[in-house]
Amino acid sequence: MRISVIGCGYLGAVHAAAMASLGHEVIGIDVDPGKVATLSAGTAPFFEPGLEDLLRAGIESGRLRFTTDIAEAAGADVHFIAVGTPSQRDGDAADLTYVDAAIAALLPHLAPGQVVAGKSTVPVGTAARLAASVHATGATLVWNPEFLREGWAVKDTLEPDRLVVGVPDGEAGAAAADTLREVFRAAVDAGIPFLVTDYATSELVKVAANAFLATKISFINAMAEIAEVTGADVTQLSDAIGYDGRIGRRYLGSGIGFGGGCLPKDIRAFAARAEELGRAESVSFLREVDAINLRRRDRAVQLVTEALGGAVFDRRITVLGAAFKPHSDDVRDSPALDVAVRLHGLGAQVTVTDPEAIPNARRLHPQLTYIDDRDDALTGAEAVVLVTEWDQYRRELDPVHAGSLVRDRVVVDGRNAWDAAQWRAAGWTYYGMGRP
Ligand code: UGA
Repeated sequence: MRISVIGCGYLGAVHAAAMASLGHEVIGIDVDPGKVATLSAGTAPFFEPGLEDLLRAGIESGRLRFTTDIAEAAGADVHFIAVGTPSQRDGDAADLTYVDAAIAALLPHLAPGQVVAGKSTVPVGTAARLAASVHATGATLVWNPEFLREGWAVKDTLEPDRLVVGVPDGEAGAAAADTLREVFRAAVDAGIPFLVTDYATSELVKVAANAFLATKISFINAMAEIAEVTGADVTQLSDAIGYDGRIGRRYLGSGIGFGGGCLPKDIRAFAARAEELGRAESVSFLREVDAINLRRRDRAVQLVTEALGGAVFDRRITVLGAAFKPHSDDVRDSPALDVAVRLHGLGAQVTVTDPEAIPNARRLHPQLTYIDDRDDALTGAEAVVLVTEWDQYRRELDPVHAGSLVRDRVVVDGRNAWDAAQWRAAGWTYYGMGRP
């Protein structure tokens, strides 16, 4: 099929490359000429395992191109809208400027029978608001939310847990659902559930899923707070309740909490939208989820302070990680970087290392000291803080070796990623988050 993807950020670039890998003919469109040039050269503008291979293969096959010219969308069977929906500058609600602009720019190029498929995460009610303008061209608007995780984006796009398509009532809606089924034929044939819903449900599926994940993480971090005053071990608690199939162990990882470009912004936008709908109380718990999450960053700073005897001023602290999670160079709302910045703000001599995220972190916080090499970063530290559980730290850093580099063997494990006994056996004073 012929496909256009409007917006080539994280979501759009991955989607375009993935669609080309399925055999579709894809044009990726973005207003940023720099991004278009980078993608056209087969280079990913961000760190995402597997993406460059897919980009290069797509470009070499002739099925994948990028342009700044929206007119090149003309003739596509399906136009995916993949632009960002950041928080508004003066509040938590989603800023729909880019979605509205993308649709407006696309309208003159639409033709009857084509499908416009929104992928961006939007407040419930957006598709219904935009439908009339699209339908006036004879094309049909559907909403097809994306559930990809950074670091696993290629796999999540090609083999999602489910596909959801919100369609309008009537024949045009049913035909548009069939068109999307054809786009995702490989996944559908492999048995991946394909759910056809109304607009509002499809929009809600996305924010509800992220709200649930955020709630799960904050739930276990709330338990960590209780563990801290009772001497319990939250990691054992996660394992024990996680064995209950109704609960499940995933997203029960306690520590400094969630960050990134999605979970924090999406739960705030959801709460703001519920308020507009007169249902603020229905999701008021999301404010609490947010508050618990942010408290864990304070707690990490407090633990480092305690570990250093009450003050961090002028002390040498090595922070392992800057990205909001491993397998990503994204530092948007990164709890890891936030902890580093707060320690720096208290006068500590902070050195940050990360396998991928240093360039992005430096751009945002040039005041911190960055060292690429993990062992160089550790050398001379009076305390080590693990905040992003990269394999280079979680699995590959031997406590005996690390102990030979630092000045004092004091460690705060902000992700509860290490075996405390092993670090203690190597002479370290170990502090976890909600662990004795
Ligand atoms: C999240 C969702 O998982 C995706 O399904 C969704 O498509 C995406 O947002 C989006 O809306 O675009 P992502 O932001 O890539 O994906 O990150 P996750 O892997 O979900 O992790 C989010 C944060 O939670 C990270 O900071 C991570 O360290 C933290 N986390 C995760 C925990 O603190 N504990 C856990 O057990 C799991």
